[in-house]
Amino acid sequence: MRLKRTERCGRVDESRVGQQVIVQGWVHRTRDHGGVLFVDLRDREGRLQLVFQPGSSEELLSEARRLRAEFVIGVRGVVRLRPEEAKNVKLRTGLVELHVQELEVLNEAPPLPIQVEGSATSDESLRLYHRYLDLRRLEMVRNLVLRDAVAQAVRGYLAGTGFLEIETPYLTRSTPEGAREYLVPSRVHQGHFYALPQSPQLFKQILMISGYDRYYQFVRCFRDEDLRADRQPEFTQIDLELAFVDREDIYEIMEGLTVAAFEAAGLELERPFRRMGYPEAMRRYGSDRPDTRFGVELRDLGVVFEGSEFPPFAEAFAKGGVVTGIVASGAEGWSRKKLDSLQEEFRRLGASALYWVKLRKNGYGASIKKALNEERVRQLAEVCGAGSGDLILLAAGPEKVVWPALGHLRLWVARDLEMVPKDRLGLLWVEDFPLFDWDKEERRLAAVHHPFTAPHEEDMALLDTAPERVRSLGYDLVLNGVEIAGGSIRIHRREVQEKIFSLLGISREEAEERFSFLLRALDYGAPPHGGIAYGFDRLSMLLAGADSIRDVIAFPKTLSGTCLLTGAPYPVEKAQLDVLGICARAEADSP
Ligand code: AMO
Repeated sequence: MRLKRTERCGRVDESRVGQQVIVQGWVHRTRDHGGVLFVDLRDREGRLQLVFQPGSSEELLSEARRLRAEFVIGVRGVVRLRPEEAKNVKLRTGLVELHVQELEVLNEAPPLPIQVEGSATSDESLRLYHRYLDLRRLEMVRNLVLRDAVAQAVRGYLAGTGFLEIETPYLTRSTPEGAREYLVPSRVHQGHFYALPQSPQLFKQILMISGYDRYYQFVRCFRDEDLRADRQPEFTQIDLELAFVDREDIYEIMEGLTVAAFEAAGLELERPFRRMGYPEAMRRYGSDRPDTRFGVELRDLGVVFEGSEFPPFAEAFAKGGVVTGIVASGAEGWSRKKLDSLQEEFRRLGASALYWVKLRKNGYGASIKKALNEERVRQLAEVCGAGSGDLILLAAGPEKVVWPALGHLRLWVARDLEMVPKDRLGLLWVEDFPLFDWDKEERRLAAVHHPFTAPHEEDMALLDTAPERVRSLGYDLVLNGVEIAGGSIRIHRREVQEKIFSLLGISREEAEERFSFLLRALDYGAPPHGGIAYGFDRLSMLLAGADSIRDVIAFPKTLSGTCLLTGAPYPVEKAQLDVLGICARAEADSP
């Protein structure tokens, strides 16, 4: 390398006019304007326009004409103001250009398999395969720079409020948090496995018991679950735990942290954040992570259909269920086909039938004429706040089925009717979750958060009589319908922890075998404590306005958990397995 960089491309501005600088980077674009050759040179900081003047040496010009997109070059030149008509005030470097005197080609590139310019146009799998090119796109650079800024702001905030960053192990013992684990075989202890942590939950609790009040960690977590746009098999949490705190203290710290993180992204938040109890979230939005940026709320239609002889409604009421509806404003004209496909989607969610009523100027149309009459339709419109031109979608059955299914439909309807405001933030705490859920398949109680979450003090007595009615001291922070953080006040007494294990169907022996270290630690002076973990990728995704967390992770996995760049996971040699004492059932095929 002959030339040594003195400045980054994106930082050269009018303060450098008349000065000589050396910049290095990637050729973004070349344009030949009848003798004058323009090259946009790009690095992480931005782009700089290079000018090769016709009067330059033939050697320099012929070398410059050879340049193609993504060649890596260094240039020495003098910064000049651009002619008035060529100025671009939108770019930091837009008022200047670099008149090149010396060019050094550091590397070449063949024609590109994906576009590096503009927004992503190529197929995502091709982008992930050529991630080194995809990461050069301005959008990706912006996302990763934003992610870094948010991380810095969070670290600054936590350091300023007395938190210690402490690392916990990645090779650990399996702990049940409801999702599947990745296992790592031990060579030394053949037949024994480490598990990669789904979260450092128990380690951070033990840190509290050890006296390290106020711990945090940017920590990688691993979960072998089905993937979605906002889920990755390995993802990063901003993990916090505090001792001698109650829920209010955690809210206080987390709101401060969230404000700092948003500020780093140029967004202002009002405090205190809104709070909503789980029962209200389910009743109004059919979801424990409601998107509160728009209405389309669930309406209880009990008063309208009370006494109805329409069998599905009568049956629902008789069994203690509900009739609930949502309004799709102005959707009276939706076709039969569209309504049929909604119906299908609804059934796929485990709900039974979806009914519809179309309110018209003169009368109505409905899939349940039998259940209606003029008076009922008038009442229905009134309860729903609906009018002529609107469509009402209704369902009947148990709350547990109808509400989430309508909650799902609510999102669908809002998206279809373009009712989701992009510039509004729907941020809120959801709290007072039930401590347990009934796991139908396993026919036992399951923890809604995790087994270490404390029950509400007031509900302790219900543990013996009606455990399904016990509220937890868990809380989630929800942004735009996405759970961005979740945590709880923990159990800090051994007898309560043992009781919860037993209600979860974990026998004394099993609890002793799997959690003896926690139970032992609880015996030796465990302070009251609680914490929370932010999904850092999800937070970054929402702050960057990205559609997928893959767009804020440098090297993400696909929805089937593969890394297209490296080809992982990949079969390993038999010899490697032999060393680990592992015998694969079938030879895996090379992909
Ligand atoms: P939880 O399981 O709710 O809590 O996880 C905390 C946050 O992590 C994010 N998250 C994910 N992000 C990307 N991909 C995934 N597969 C994924 N799974 C979860 C979410 C979620 O809110 N130990 C507890 C925290 C605690 O109680 O302190 C825990 O892990 O944004």
